[in-house]
Amino acid sequence: MDTQKELEALLESYDGTLESRYSSLANAVAFLKNLLNEISWIGFYLKKDSFLVLGPFQGNIACEKIPFTKGVCGDSYSQKKTINVDNVHLYDNHISCESDTCSELVIPLITKSRVFGVLDIDSKSFSRFKDDEIKLLEELAAIIAKKLF
Ligand code: SME
Repeated sequence: MDTQKELEALLESYDGTLESRYSSLANAVAFLKNLLNEISWIGFYLKKDSFLVLGPFQGNIACEKIPFTKGVCGDSYSQKKTINVDNVHLYDNHISCESDTCSELVIPLITKSRVFGVLDIDSKSFSRFKDDEIKLLEELAAIIAKKLF
């Protein structure tokens, strides 16, 4: 089975409740973590009122609430586009949760032109994220958005 179909199958158990959405997001983040090498943190930030609020993740403790104007996450959410940061030290608006993070990829969760949050991935290697993998991750984020939001 290809990766997209595996993720779709994993999300089949979603039953439309908020609890089930969080269970499915927790499984989705575990699935994505297993897929990727050399990452230090992966998780979701979900829109709640005027903030992005920490959702299911794998990695160390992270900031819980991000305003839409802050961080790579806020920028990706506001601009409704993927942001790939090769070197976070050169990105002025970056929020540092762990001092040894070097690169970061943030992909918005969009379905029917609405953005519900972001998928955030950190790495301790510079320039970790390359075009082919970014394309795959964008497809997987689109599946998550379509199935769960
Ligand atoms: N670095 C992110 C904040 C979240 S942590 O990486 C988990 C940002 O700049 O938005």
